[in-house]
Amino acid sequence: MKRKLLGALLSTAMVASLVVGCSGGNDTAPADTPADTEAPADAETPADNEADDASAPAAAGGGKIGISMPTQSLERWNRDGAYLDEQFKAAGFETILTFSDDKTEQQVNDIQNMLADGVDMLVIAAIDGNALNTALEGAAEQNIPVISYDRLILNDAASYYVSFDNYTVGQLQGEYIVKALDLENAGDKTYNIEITAGDPADNNATYFYQGAIDAIQPYLDNGALNIVSGQKDFDAVATPGWKTDTALARAQNVLSSYYADGTQLDAWLCSNDSTALGVTQAVTSDYAGSNAVIITGQDGDEANLKNIVDGTQTMTVYKNVSNESIVTLALAKAILAGETIDESLIPSFGIECAFDTESYETSAGNKCPSFLLVPNVITKDNLQDLVDTGLYTMGDDGYLSATN
Ligand code: GAL
Repeated sequence: MKRKLLGALLSTAMVASLVVGCSGGNDTAPADTPADTEAPADAETPADNEADDASAPAAAGGGKIGISMPTQSLERWNRDGAYLDEQFKAAGFETILTFSDDKTEQQVNDIQNMLADGVDMLVIAAIDGNALNTALEGAAEQNIPVISYDRLILNDAASYYVSFDNYTVGQLQGEYIVKALDLENAGDKTYNIEITAGDPADNNATYFYQGAIDAIQPYLDNGALNIVSGQKDFDAVATPGWKTDTALARAQNVLSSYYADGTQLDAWLCSNDSTALGVTQAVTSDYAGSNAVIITGQDGDEANLKNIVDGTQTMTVYKNVSNESIVTLALAKAILAGETIDESLIPSFGIECAFDTESYETSAGNKCPSFLLVPNVITKDNLQDLVDTGLYTMGDDGYLSATN
């Protein structure tokens, strides 16, 4: 996973985003794009599975942004949608925000409705990065720039990509386990581990998985780590839809099949919090061992932060999606203003950024220039860092709640 050098480093934001131009060489916006003007009155945010009212009056010259989120059933996307909506409205844009209930055909429909409503740009977190071609062909025909938000859309019409450094997310999870078990000094001891990865339709999931595997592979090779179930390949450990119940069921099956004889389980590497929730439920209810099992996650979901306080989950990789929305807005404005998209934009983001032109491509040969930032490990020892972002509050019980 080659990456270019870090670009200019700015402010002390906890985490950052990956910003990528994935237009296959066209790194400026279409000429006929509107300038920013005053925001119209707030439109209502539609409930899951509904597009906004197509009759909403277009802001005079303000520009209209279509924001397509995958679902509301995974906690983080509610925040992503809210932050994006807030950022674009505050900057003078009209917005249409939809959540597509994790149904790709619904997301295609939502996006097509946005195009029919005359949006000037699309910001899309794809349910399936390979399944939006119909909608994106429509955007390309209308010369509407598309930002792939958080999850790469594998179609060249997706002009730009904003996300986090997904490979590093996985690396942080793997490295955490290596350090927590002190595998460098394992000697002739072998620690047992299992793995739960994400949704095969989500391009991010393979980056999380590969980053984690690359971090632990040397210890699988030298015998310090052992996957007792033998389930290591991505397809064997993937979790369609990132669903908690699916992760729970597989973890219960692994525990009953391989650990019922008293075999010790030392760690379970989970790619995100929704799957970690299922694995933690299984370990809590079905693992007979007396040791605390190291369980990783990602996103800082409230239920998982509670488990981290209670000690049943060990860490999560936090990604500040408010920062991701700030960078998305700054990039969108640069695109609509016809600016060149490269590392020179970093100062305008006001958030720590790096520049990369190798790690992501939308189709054969089309590399995407990217702005890369490193997310953070959160454990019960640094929960205050989350409170310090202003995006979480800590109750008297020590548990954290998100502020939005
Ligand atoms: C990924 C995202 C992660 C993870 C997952 C579930 O694409 O980058 O934060 O939570 O989706 O929504």
